[in-house]
Amino acid sequence: MADKTATLRINDQDYELPILSPTKGPDVLDIRKLYGQADVFTYDPGFTSTASCDSTITFIDGDKGELWYRGYPIEQLAAKSSYLEVCYLLLYGELPSPEQMDDFSARVTRHTMVHEQMHNFFRGFRRDAHPMATMVGVVGAMSAFYHDSTDVNDEWQREVAAIRLIAKLPTIAAMAYKYSIGQPFVYPQNDLDYASNFLNMCFSVPAEKYEVNPALARAMDRIFTLHADHEQNASTSTVRLAGSSGANPFACIAAGIACLWGPAHGGANQACLEMLREIGTVDRIPEFIARAKDKSDPFKLMGFGHRVYKNFDPRATVMKESADEVLELLGIGDNPVLQVAKELEKIALEDEYFIEKKLYPNVDFYSGIILEAMGFPTSMFTPIFALSRTVGWIAQWKEMIGDPQNKIGRPRQLYVGSDKRDYVDLTKR
Ligand code: SDX
Repeated sequence: MADKTATLRINDQDYELPILSPTKGPDVLDIRKLYGQADVFTYDPGFTSTASCDSTITFIDGDKGELWYRGYPIEQLAAKSSYLEVCYLLLYGELPSPEQMDDFSARVTRHTMVHEQMHNFFRGFRRDAHPMATMVGVVGAMSAFYHDSTDVNDEWQREVAAIRLIAKLPTIAAMAYKYSIGQPFVYPQNDLDYASNFLNMCFSVPAEKYEVNPALARAMDRIFTLHADHEQNASTSTVRLAGSSGANPFACIAAGIACLWGPAHGGANQACLEMLREIGTVDRIPEFIARAKDKSDPFKLMGFGHRVYKNFDPRATVMKESADEVLELLGIGDNPVLQVAKELEKIALEDEYFIEKKLYPNVDFYSGIILEAMGFPTSMFTPIFALSRTVGWIAQWKEMIGDPQNKIGRPRQLYVGSDKRDYVDLTKR
């Protein structure tokens, strides 16, 4: 992929760095041999200018606000596809034929139950534990149950682990929710589609019949699709780094869930709704905008800004349309929180601070409003993000494991600590 080179001059010595050309996006300087040739490291905390791998799965153009899964724009997939079809696309690279889709759907459906003994794990947690805490624990514990799909060097076991994770994460997330509200676990139903099954496991109770609202199931499915993958974000990079040591897939996904939980990442959807509720009314928006701009105040506008998108986040646009539809459907179109969100977006996008720093609403800005309207508590917002992103994590993990160039990830550092010194006995200090 290198037909051009860049010249780097260090201490009057020139070094030729191959330039790798992508299908789309900026060229990439290949610095793999730099340390060996020039005895220097590059420095990029937060990896703002660093490509950690090559990938064929997802492409983001932050300036144009574009997001493609295997080349297909997210807007088209959100409008025309289904989450399970998107899972097939992310895992295998192509849209499935009808037969392939039926086979894939049947394989996932048959893996939705968890080992019955896993129910005991939940009983070890406090009822008021955050569902993300239980999910990290229970998903990591899957490697204690599914020993026949933990050998990362066996392609068939990697395939089975991927299907098991996609199939079981909704069940585990629903169990975490049911446990937190003291209701009995609801088993998956094989005659329900993926999103309807999740809603049924969360909201049905043994005491009465529960009918899933098809429009809400479609909105749920669309939310899953919008969160499915996002190239080398923090949690995906965590999964890749954990996987690079040869750790089993369940442990790697548990690491991804732990990373996603942070409020700067997947935890922002919960933090955003809590912020909108704290703002409460439109007239208090200026106070919070001022706080977001105040360098001495650590407050940030949750659901705003993005490392890559310096234009609108295409997922936020679809999510905003979905929020209007769902709230209208539920007869709460005048939802005060939605009104605050829309006014906050309008004011922020006209403010020179947000314009100059290119801060736009991201995927987390509107998702919480829909999820709350559907009946989820804020504590379930990030678990829903995690179950949606599981296919992206596992697709990226499979791509890495299958890459012949794959080696353990081991960054270096700029050491600024103490120079070498001798130990001083306690009596002499
Ligand atoms: C997700 O990476 C992904 O792809 C993630 C994700 C995915 O699908 O996996 O898209 C999901 O994590 C979305 C982001 C959710 N997080 C939030 O909504 C939390 C609020 N946003 C910020 O924390 C922040 O915008 C980040 C973390 C999202 C991005 O941070 P960066 O890229 O490190 O940018 P930065 O913090 O350096 O910000 C640049 C400037 C700074 O000001 P200066 O130091 O240059 O003066 O913009 C300011 C920041 O202070 N800024 C904000 C702000 N976000 C950035 N100021 C106020 N409010 C904000 N939300």
